[in-house]
Amino acid sequence: MTRDELLAILWENADTYISGAQLARRLSVSRTAVWKQIEQLRGEGYLIESVTNKGYRLSSRSDVLSAAGIERYLEHPNIRVQVRRSVSSTITVLKEQAEAGAPEGTALVAEEQTKGRGRMGRSFYSPPGTGVYLSLLLRPDTAAAEAVALTACAAVAVAESVESLSGHPAQIKWINDVLMDGKKICGILTEASVDFESGMLHYAVVGIGINVLIPPGGFPPELQDRAGAVFGTNGGPALRCRMAAAVLDLLMGYYERLGEKTYYEGYKQRSVVLGRPILLLTPGHDPVPAQALDIDRDFALVVRLADGTIRHVNSGEVSIRPGGPDF
Ligand code: BTN
Repeated sequence: MTRDELLAILWENADTYISGAQLARRLSVSRTAVWKQIEQLRGEGYLIESVTNKGYRLSSRSDVLSAAGIERYLEHPNIRVQVRRSVSSTITVLKEQAEAGAPEGTALVAEEQTKGRGRMGRSFYSPPGTGVYLSLLLRPDTAAAEAVALTACAAVAVAESVESLSGHPAQIKWINDVLMDGKKICGILTEASVDFESGMLHYAVVGIGINVLIPPGGFPPELQDRAGAVFGTNGGPALRCRMAAAVLDLLMGYYERLGEKTYYEGYKQRSVVLGRPILLLTPGHDPVPAQALDIDRDFALVVRLADGTIRHVNSGEVSIRPGGPDF
């Protein structure tokens, strides 16, 4: 019996009792083995009641990430989910799996990352119990230059998921941050392996980190101004499992029609930079003031510089200049 097989049966029967004898029969183990495994799941945070003559009952309010818990909500047939309690970084680990031949659709979700990575060599704060840190392996038949579309469709998938689960609108800050009420609730980092001769992708790993809840004690001081969470401090039934499943389903759906760019309008409509005075930030260069005019269909940011030049920017980051002059 694996822990996941037991969990899968408990999830199938969430909020109803299933007897120890039935579990033991279905899993071909003794009732004692079932009980030991149940104790272990409780230790991990699953809310499992037990009542004499009735058996065990998993509460659907348990908000622990598990493969069975996510698969319960997942609709897409070609996603295989693995969940780890703690990893260095889901991107780093999934890239190793990709190099070893893991198939497209392999998803790695973690409760905690000890070396979560962000853009531009930054770290990504990934405490346990409150976030969803996931990476999805894709093997697109596209040129590396089109990889930016993966990040863009991931941003829309996250925005739509958090909106449908919370009922609050989300915004997108070019190119890859998802915000709620002006605070960053999600960061996205896409890394790829490229065939230098053809310029085509071997594979891409899309890494998504969502702050679902505010961590106990709040965000660290250096993040407090900028970081937010989709919900407050209290979660809900299987909230993070539903979040992971919704994001993976939507992302896979968009990915399968990547070239149609059905996510383009959803991306543009949620943009917080359009029409605003901004600073273009490129490592090693001074910030460049500009006006954000548009996002083209390749997800480049169309800007007007102070001398009136129009530029399509496809790398770097931007910050909004509050009250800065328009030009
Ligand atoms: C950013 O905002 O700079 C991007 C953050 C990306 C974080 C996610 S969490 C899952 C995946 N694993 C990582 O180490 N990073 C990405």
